[in-house]
Amino acid sequence: MLEVNGLVTSYGLIKALRNVSLQAEKGKLTCILGPNGAGKSTLLFTIAGILKSDMGSIKFLNKELSKIKTSEIVKEGLVLVPENRLVFPHLSVSENLLAGAYSRFGKKNEVEEDLESMYKRFPILKERYLQEAGTLSGGEQQMLAVARALMARPKLLLMDEPSVGLAPKIVNTIFEIIKTLSDEGISIVLVEQNAVKASAIADHIYLLDQGEITFSGTPDQIEDNDIIKRAYLGDISES
Ligand SMILES: Nc1ncnc2c1ncn2[C@@H]1O[C@H](COP(=O)(O)OP(=O)(O)OP(=O)(O)O)[C@@H](O)[C@H]1O
Ligand SMILES: [Mg+2]
Repeated sequence: MLEVNGLVTSYGLIKALRNVSLQAEKGKLTCILGPNGAGKSTLLFTIAGILKSDMGSIKFLNKELSKIKTSEIVKEGLVLVPENRLVFPHLSVSENLLAGAYSRFGKKNEVEEDLESMYKRFPILKERYLQEAGTLSGGEQQMLAVARALMARPKLLLMDEPSVGLAPKIVNTIFEIIKTLSDEGISIVLVEQNAVKASAIADHIYLLDQGEITFSGTPDQIEDNDIIKRAYLGDISES
């Protein structure tokens, strides 16, 4: 569904991605693990068209994305849930959700149906629909960020560290939500540092380190590979 080949992205003279290649299959949960500064957000920004690559190709449903605008990429069905939620803080919950559907402007009935289905999926958002998004708790903001992305009816959801900075109980809830979405057949690329939780739900795992893919395999293959396990999952896998 998504095929990234030889991607290079730089900030000035610094190469944040060096020759990154990966694939994400339809209906699968593909996870990219890596430490701080590995280039995870850079990778998702490049795929979503927010950053331009120096080299390489990004094919989504056989269409080359590296030359088209972010708004067009969203219309193709590729939607990013950014790091640190980034909801619109001064808009209400319902306004944030409607903003997520901007690419489907004109399909009012369909958008209203989706709004109702988000409220069913995330009852807390229904309770809070008039509240300013910036005053929601961290976990509620993350649910809103996911729901806002779903309002675009994505074919592939890109999620950037959805569990970061949340209390353990809320982290579990967020991972349950991701697992449910995946079980429903939504294709997902999940970027995480929580290796244990991510491995438990992922179909395929890539390790990204200093801008390079250093491992590609199933969660079982990581378990079986002591060197990879110790070098890249280290203490994280104990937590
Ligand atoms: N706007 C920028 N200007 C210059 N360098 C940047 C910029 N954004 C990121 N970088 C650098 O690019 C590298 C990759 O950063 P990136 O944010 O993609 O990492 P990450 O894997 O998402 O890290 P984290 O887990 O902390 O979110 C880092 O060395 C970072 O300092
Ligand atoms: Mg990041």
